[in-house]
Amino acid sequence: MRIDVRPVARLRGPSPVDVPAALAPLLDALGDTSTDLAQVRIVCDWIQYRSNFAEPVSCRPVLAEHPAARRQAVGQHPEDTLEIALDLRRCGEAELTAGAVKEALGSYADPAAAGRTMLEPWTPASGSCIWRFNALYWQALSGWEQATGREYEQALPGGQSDARQADPVRELISELFRVWDELDARHALPEELYVVELGVGNGNQALTWLDEFAELDRVQGRDYYRRLHYLMGDYSAHVLDRARQAVARHGDRVNTLVLDATRPGLTLGFLRGKAFCVYISNVYDNLPTDELAFLAGRPYLVEVRGYLRDEDAAWIARSYQAEPGDLPGVIERLLRLGPDLLAEAAPGRFPEPAGAVSLWRDVWGALRLAERYTPLEGLDAYQVSPGVTGEILRPLLESSGDIRMHVSNGALASFAGTLPLLHPFGRLLCHDLFVTGPGQYQAGFRGPGKYDGSVVNWVNGPLLQLVGNRRGFDVRIEPFSGRPSATVKTLTAQVRG
Ligand SMILES: C[S@@+](CC[C@H](N)C(=O)[O-])C[C@H]1O[C@@H](n2cnc3c(N)ncnc32)[C@H](O)[C@@H]1O
Repeated sequence: MRIDVRPVARLRGPSPVDVPAALAPLLDALGDTSTDLAQVRIVCDWIQYRSNFAEPVSCRPVLAEHPAARRQAVGQHPEDTLEIALDLRRCGEAELTAGAVKEALGSYADPAAAGRTMLEPWTPASGSCIWRFNALYWQALSGWEQATGREYEQALPGGQSDARQADPVRELISELFRVWDELDARHALPEELYVVELGVGNGNQALTWLDEFAELDRVQGRDYYRRLHYLMGDYSAHVLDRARQAVARHGDRVNTLVLDATRPGLTLGFLRGKAFCVYISNVYDNLPTDELAFLAGRPYLVEVRGYLRDEDAAWIARSYQAEPGDLPGVIERLLRLGPDLLAEAAPGRFPEPAGAVSLWRDVWGALRLAERYTPLEGLDAYQVSPGVTGEILRPLLESSGDIRMHVSNGALASFAGTLPLLHPFGRLLCHDLFVTGPGQYQAGFRGPGKYDGSVVNWVNGPLLQLVGNRRGFDVRIEPFSGRPSATVKTLTAQVRG
């Protein structure tokens, strides 16, 4: 049997995590089963997100062959192996852990009796309903914020967006002015100066940026502000509206565009080679991603399946005068219509939109993901993003034994689609949660977690660097200058000089 303990930083210090205490109930329970212990791998994590999709203890089958090629039910195939995952943060108390272990092993032995209301079939994580919930959150943000009484920014690391800090913004704009001055001296500066922001949230970052820009331009007297076109892009019309109001004092220097950040070229193609700065903060970690794993030298795709525990489905259904069996249908309608239209369509159940928001929050809070590892024929059989196969991950996946990592499909597609928009002297600048080396996947939990109603996954920085390097860009990931000790890092990409 193999035991991986990932949160190594928590094994030392004033209150180190008690791994043996968490493992004891599991080892006891395994001793009482007929499971082939040689085929069991235990993975201990510390899930730092208090709100997340995982049970304290869960069983993840490692399938011996692709499900389409097998006749027997999952969990009963003699050649499957088993990963048992423990969240050490929630496995400190022996009795509770023993109960969770019993339940997890029971659900593995007999999935049909696992007491779960399934919301979707098995799917790669990027296709899970969690992303529909995520999109709904941004589309219907005000309803959610009214219900919680707090703004989304308060859920971000540090309690507000780092993008708002004035000093790093001023530094960035000064650098931009320096580049423009040089181009101007060579009569090579275009008349129109384009800056793009993707994923704008409440517009506070844009406001900080534009205020600083206007002030610096006034002081330096370069007249760049008059030539500036600040384009704000987001997939939520609601968010864009809010951001537009936030920057109203900058009038027609600003334009807004509804766009999908994972396909920026579709809407912003007219900017090809023209953007001096593309700015994106706290968005890559919010874009859909799969996970791949290398276990015993073999590649696997992590598949997930959203569910509610039956007891959660029961109380949620009761609260909205529904039967537990009707709940998946009601949730589907919520995701399709949003809370306002759902309330209009079902006034008996939801006299006010607030009732539908309340259902949404209850379901989101209770939503869990089951996971399994499905073998891949080869890394090239897996498509990361258009034109990029899983082969690109080989150097990262093969670097150090058994490993599981995010593919960051959405972030990668966004990044690769943004690079062609850059002016030869332009740069892409991104503040986000970046993993900076594959080893970090073996030393900590990198998502998914829940930030209020949205999903967060750390971004696979080395993968973005590989993709950027191949396209002739220098890609650096450095500490965020406004808060060097923060988990948020700054990625910069510009044409290799
Ligand atoms: C966490 S907020 C970050 C907002 C702001 N940049 C900040 O740092 O505070 C994420 C933003 O990305 C937007 N977003 C998420 N996925 C997107 C996508 N696929 N296309 C466009 N915008 C997206 C959301 O609507 C939201 O405005």
